[in-house]
Amino acid sequence: LLLNPSNITWHPSLSRRERFQLRGQRGFTVWFTGLSASGKSTVATALEQHLLHLGLAAYRLDGDNIRFGLNKDLGFSEKDRNENIRRIAEVAKLFADSATIAITSFISPYRADRQMARELHASSQAGDDPLPFIEVFVDVPLEEAEKRDPKGLYKKARAGEIKEFTGISAPYEAPENPEITIRTHELSVEECVQKIVDYLKEQGLIT
Ligand code: PPS
Repeated sequence: LLLNPSNITWHPSLSRRERFQLRGQRGFTVWFTGLSASGKSTVATALEQHLLHLGLAAYRLDGDNIRFGLNKDLGFSEKDRNENIRRIAEVAKLFADSATIAITSFISPYRADRQMARELHASSQAGDDPLPFIEVFVDVPLEEAEKRDPKGLYKKARAGEIKEFTGISAPYEAPENPEITIRTHELSVEECVQKIVDYLKEQGLIT
């Protein structure tokens, strides 16, 4: 079946600003990064719940819905992690563009990949406002993450049963200038969420 291009019309869509106004909410991305077992998913889940209870559209992207679906073809080599983060950044941007708060919780160990995600959000079609990108560094010492080891992965990595494990045999490049740092070994989950919510309010991203 050949489509005749002359019968296809490109419909310019609403501007991002108009869409946000009509939805009564701004879209943006909250990007968590941190070691395995740092508490990313726990805080991201609590943040999503908090925002939903405020009546805001929020949606969390994490390993369950990405590495079992969209990215099930990817492993943990540097190249696969780059591609994992590239696709997640694109999807987060689409959610944010639709006036949803996208919350991502992935190790995202490479600084350059996180920078790419940030730049992707900053780039926009002519006239559109950039999408805010808030990097949240879940900062716990490796010893603490290893002590928690909820899935027994650090133990396996130390035993050489998992190759290229972040923090043990693969790098984690800590953010140098994150918008927010949370230390889950010093604050409760609720305090971490509150710190993020306070920042979003200060920035006028939520009311
Ligand atoms: S990345 O680096 O951002 O692409 O990783 P991510 O998609 O967040 O996936 C991390 C989860 O996969 C499990 N896992 C590993 N993590 C790190 N290194 C290796 N080699 C590895 N193999 C499996 C691990 O359970 C991570 O889950 P979290 O929730 O971070 O503990």
